[in-house]
Amino acid sequence: MGRVAGKVAIVTGAASGLGEASARLLVREGARVVLTDINETRGKEVADSLGENAVFMKHDVRDEGQWIAIINRILARFGRLDVLVNNAGVVVVADVEHTSLEDWRFVNEVGTDGTFFGCKHGIAAMRKSGGGSIINMSSLAGIGGYPLVFAYAASKGAIRAMSKSIAVHCAQNRYNIRCNSVHPGGIATPMVQGFIKGAATVTSGTEESAAKLFSKLGEPEDVAHMVVYLASDESKFVSGAEFVIDNTASITEGVVPY
Ligand SMILES: NC(=O)c1ccc[n+]([C@@H]2O[C@H](COP(=O)([O-])OP(=O)(O)OC[C@H]3O[C@@H](n4cnc5c(N)ncnc54)[C@H](O)[C@@H]3O)[C@@H](O)[C@H]2O)c1
Repeated sequence: MGRVAGKVAIVTGAASGLGEASARLLVREGARVVLTDINETRGKEVADSLGENAVFMKHDVRDEGQWIAIINRILARFGRLDVLVNNAGVVVVADVEHTSLEDWRFVNEVGTDGTFFGCKHGIAAMRKSGGGSIINMSSLAGIGGYPLVFAYAASKGAIRAMSKSIAVHCAQNRYNIRCNSVHPGGIATPMVQGFIKGAATVTSGTEESAAKLFSKLGEPEDVAHMVVYLASDESKFVSGAEFVIDNTASITEGVVPY
């Protein structure tokens, strides 16, 4: 019997990186998983490779109307929603002095607005299902700030605080819904490759020197295992907590490494 057998989960940003790895592990542990992303081609490929317990639905997390439609589709098809992984995110490499309003809005629309919409409508669906678990993908940048990715760190800080407010709200109202935030350090995904390229450009350095911002990169599965734990009933007394996954980087190198 899998660790999340019988549960119905949605994972946003599941066409790549941490979302893909989380969806794969949730299916392996017995969940039925709805993978969503704006990247339809890759999202479908991932879902198809996972068999009958995975389905892809195209979804832009910035759009509240699409959230309402996706959750309704999930309830119509599966009759319940137990797990919500708000994972979709984007990064723009720019400090506060070089962040345009457009970049600020783009990062916050995907990260902050997307997570808010997911939680708001996910809670309604989970209440109908008797409870559930919300897992919000924040970052080390959401704890200590990170000057090179100013808008991103602000968005991840908002996600961290939002998660705690939601956890307490749900506990006070006895919804049986938990909410936790996950804070990875450098994990080898397309986003981190893009960050290294961007950091090399803005610091006028090489990609090799920018890569040294991370002493060691983790693997997407290192985060996916945490997602499965938080999705499962093993974490039934865990809510409002934050989980750093960084192999000590934030201690030994400081949360603000640059
Ligand atoms: N990789 C790391 O080291 C790291 C560290 C800390 C936090 N995170 C967070 O983990 C999450 C996943 O990151 P990743 O490294 O796997 O990145 P990634 O770029 O590999 O994957 C992100 C996915 O989100 C999707 N996406 C982007 N905009 C979207 C939108 N508007 N609606 C729906 N989907 C959208 C992309 O198409 C992509 O498939 C992000 O929230 C990121 O901020 C990653």
